[in-house]
Amino acid sequence: MQLYDYEKEHLSYLRNHLAECTVLLKQNGAFPLGKPCAIAAFGNGVRKTIKGGSGSGEVNSRYFVTVEEGLKNAGFTVTSGKWLDAYDAAYVQARKQFVKDVKALARQMHTMAMYIGMGKVMPEPEYNLPLDGEGDAAIYVLARISGEGNDRQDARGDIRLTETEKRDILLLNKKFKKFMLVLNAGGPVDLSEVEEVENVLVLSQLGVETGDALADILLGKQNPSGKLATTWSAWQDYFPMPDFGDHNDTRYKEGVYVGYRYFDSVGKRARYPFGFGLSYTTFRLEPQMAANEGSRVEVQVKVKNTGSVSGKEVAQVYVSCPEGKLDQPYQALAAFAKTKELAPGEEETLTLRFDLKNLASFDAEKSAYVLEKGAYVIRVGNSSVDTVPVALAELDGDVLVLQAKPCCGQADFEDWKPEQKREDMLPENLPRLQVKAADIVSAKVEYDQPEEVDETVAKWTDEQLAYALVGAFDPKAGKLSIIGNAGKQVAGTAGESTSVLKEEGLPVLAMADGPAGVRLSQKFYRDEKGAHSLGHTGLPESMVEFMPGIFRMLMKLLPGNKLPRGAVAEEQYATALPIGTALAQSWNEEFVQGCGDIVGSEMRRFGVHLWLAPALNIHRSIRCGRNFEYYSEDPLVSGKMAAAITRGVQAYPGCGVTIKHYAANNQETNRYGNNSIISERAVREIYLKGFGICVREAKPASVMTSYNLLNGCHTAQMRGLIEDVLRSEFGFDGIVMTDWLVRGMIHNDRDTHAPVQPEMTAAAGNDLYMPGCKADFDDMLKGLREGTLTRKQMEINVSRVYRMAKKLCEK
Ligand code: BGC
Repeated sequence: MQLYDYEKEHLSYLRNHLAECTVLLKQNGAFPLGKPCAIAAFGNGVRKTIKGGSGSGEVNSRYFVTVEEGLKNAGFTVTSGKWLDAYDAAYVQARKQFVKDVKALARQMHTMAMYIGMGKVMPEPEYNLPLDGEGDAAIYVLARISGEGNDRQDARGDIRLTETEKRDILLLNKKFKKFMLVLNAGGPVDLSEVEEVENVLVLSQLGVETGDALADILLGKQNPSGKLATTWSAWQDYFPMPDFGDHNDTRYKEGVYVGYRYFDSVGKRARYPFGFGLSYTTFRLEPQMAANEGSRVEVQVKVKNTGSVSGKEVAQVYVSCPEGKLDQPYQALAAFAKTKELAPGEEETLTLRFDLKNLASFDAEKSAYVLEKGAYVIRVGNSSVDTVPVALAELDGDVLVLQAKPCCGQADFEDWKPEQKREDMLPENLPRLQVKAADIVSAKVEYDQPEEVDETVAKWTDEQLAYALVGAFDPKAGKLSIIGNAGKQVAGTAGESTSVLKEEGLPVLAMADGPAGVRLSQKFYRDEKGAHSLGHTGLPESMVEFMPGIFRMLMKLLPGNKLPRGAVAEEQYATALPIGTALAQSWNEEFVQGCGDIVGSEMRRFGVHLWLAPALNIHRSIRCGRNFEYYSEDPLVSGKMAAAITRGVQAYPGCGVTIKHYAANNQETNRYGNNSIISERAVREIYLKGFGICVREAKPASVMTSYNLLNGCHTAQMRGLIEDVLRSEFGFDGIVMTDWLVRGMIHNDRDTHAPVQPEMTAAAGNDLYMPGCKADFDDMLKGLREGTLTRKQMEINVSRVYRMAKKLCEK
C-alpha cells in the first residue's frame, strides 16, 4: 500500500504520541519485554481490534492495524492462532444471532431494526475454547465497543466481564509469568473480578495504528504516560443513577457530585481514580512554591524521573473550596501540566496557573457566580488521590464574580448532598496566600445586545432567508438528506449549507463529522451535480447491517455506488485519530493541538469548512454510549482539550470546528426525546463549563446544539442557552446549528415530550437547521406567517451564516 506523504507525516506524528493516550493501571515489572518473542495473545480484541466507536464518529481510514498485525509487524510470533480462528467462528455465530434478535425486537416494537441496532453493544458470547498457545509472555486483549444511538449496560459482556473472559484471564494470569491484561475499550470496564492480574493497560482505541502502539508499549519503545480522564471503578461504586436510560426524563440528582467529585467527597476510594496512571518509570513530585497576584495563583512543581527509563509525568493541582452557604465537593481540578520526556535522573520544574475565579460556584438564588469567604486548599499531585496540600489561599470576604440571570430552566428536585463529608487533616504550617475580596473585579453580563444585520442579507426575500436557514435543501436537486452523506461539495460529508443562494453571494459551507478524524468517503467521483461517494452508502456500517436485505440491495443500486461510464474515480484518505477519551488521557494539550493540526490540514486538502467536532459532553455515567467521543468527567479537562484541538484546526484559514453537543447530552437512550433535568448550578458548573472554556480560549467557529431537552425545553430551541449563556456570557460570535434531524427519526407513543419545531429553533437564535429538507423550509415560512418567528430574527441568523460562510469559504 502506497501512502501519500501527508498520510505518512500524520501517522508518524501520532505514532510518537500514542502511548501518551494509554494508561498503565497496574504493573509488576514484568513488562516491557525488551525484544520481540513468542507471545500468546487471546481475547476478542486481538483480531477484532477496535480503532474507535461506532456511529457518525466512525472515521473511514484507509486501513488500520489490529493487535495481531501490530505484534507481527514488530517481529513477535503470535502462537495463539488456533484460538483466534476458533474465536472468529464463535463471534460470527453470535453476531448472526444478535442481528436476528434486534430485528425480532424491532418487529415487536413496530419500528426499524436500524434504530434499535444502531450503536447497540453486542454482548460478548460465552464459549469454552482451549487456551492453546505458548510463549515467553501472554496478553489478553479485551475489547468493548459502543456507539451512537444506544447506551452501555451493566451486564456481563459489556461493562462487566463475561464468565468466559473472567475464567480465561485468571487462567492465563496463573500460567504465564509475564501476563498483561489490555483493555481496547472506549470506557471503563468493571475489573473487580480479575483483581489478581498484576499488569493492566488501558490501550483505549487509538485509530489507525492501535495495534502498532501496543507493540511499541510491550517492547518499551514507548512508555505509557496517560492518566485517567474518568474514574474507573467497580460498577456498584459509582453514584447510583436509577433513572439513567429512562425513556423520557432523567434527573441528574447528584448535582455537582459527578465522577471524582462524588468519590472524593464521600471518602470512597475508586479502584483507579481520576487522574491516575502509572509508567514504566517512577517520578517524584516536589511542590516548590505557590504565589498569587489577586485571585491568580501560580504553583511550581519540580518533577524528577527517579526510575531507570525515560518517560513523562502529569502534575495536577486540585482546590478544595470552603463551604459557606453553598456545599462544595471535596475538590476540583484547577490546573494540570505535562513534562517533556524526562531521561532517568532528569528533572523539570512545571508552572501551573489558575484563577480562583474559575472555581466560582453558581448561587442559584442570586443567579450569580460567587466565591465564598474562607480558606481555599491548594493540593498538588499526580492523581486526584495522591496529592499533598501545598498552600491555603485565604479570601477575606465573599465575592460576586459574575452577575448572570437564570437561563437553563428548573429542576423539580433539590440536588443531592453528601450527608457526611470526608474530613480533611491539614498540616498547621501551610503557607498562606492572602486574597483580598476588594481586589477582585465583579463582572456583569450585557444580555440582549443589538445584532447587526448584513446589508446584503437585509435585501433577501423571506424565501431566500428560509433557504439560508435550513442546511442543504435544494428544491431543484430534490436531494434526500440523510445522516452521514448529505453533502454534495465533498463526498461523504454529513451536510452543508444551502447552495441555492450562491449567486446572491452566499458560499456553501461543507461540514464533515469527527471527532476521531475527518469522516469522509474514501472514493468518489464528480459530475455536474457534485461529488458522489463510491462503494459505500455513506451510512455508518453499524447501521447498515440492520437494514432489510432488500433495502441494502437497493442502496447498492443508488447512483454513486458504481462509477458511471466516463467518470473519473478520485480518492481522499483521512487519518483516524485516537478517540476523544484517549486524547484526553494524554493530558497533553500540545499533542492534542497537533491532532487538530492533522484535522485542519486534511480539511483544507479536501475542501471541508466545518468539522463537526470536537465533542465535549461530560462523562456523567460510564453507561453513555457516546462517551468514547467525549473527553472526561471533568469540565476543565474537557474544555482544555476542546480548546487545544480547536486551536490546531482553526490555525488553517478556511477551517472551523463545531463544538457539540450543547448541552447535557449524556445518554443515548431515546436521544431525540429525552429530557435532562438538572439544577441550574450543576448545568453551569459541570455541563456548560467546558463549552465556556473552549469558547473563551479558542473561539470555535460553530456550536451544535444537542438532541435532548434540558429541563423541559429542547436545547435546539432554548434561547437562554443559546443567546444568553453562549453568546452573552461566554462571548461566542460564530454560528449555532442543530444536530441532524433533531425533529427525531422515530417518535412513538412512549414519548411524552413534543418534538423540535424548525421555526422555534430559528426563533431561539439557532442559525442553521440541519441537514435540511422541504418540510423544514416550509416550517420556517409558516413560523414567519404565524408570528412565532420574526423576519428580524431570520435576518440576524442568516447574517451570522453569511459572515461565517464568507470567512471560511473565501480563504
Ligand atoms: C450526531 C452528530 C453528528 C451528526 C451528523 C448526528 O446523529 O449526533 O454528532 O455530527 O449526526 O452526522
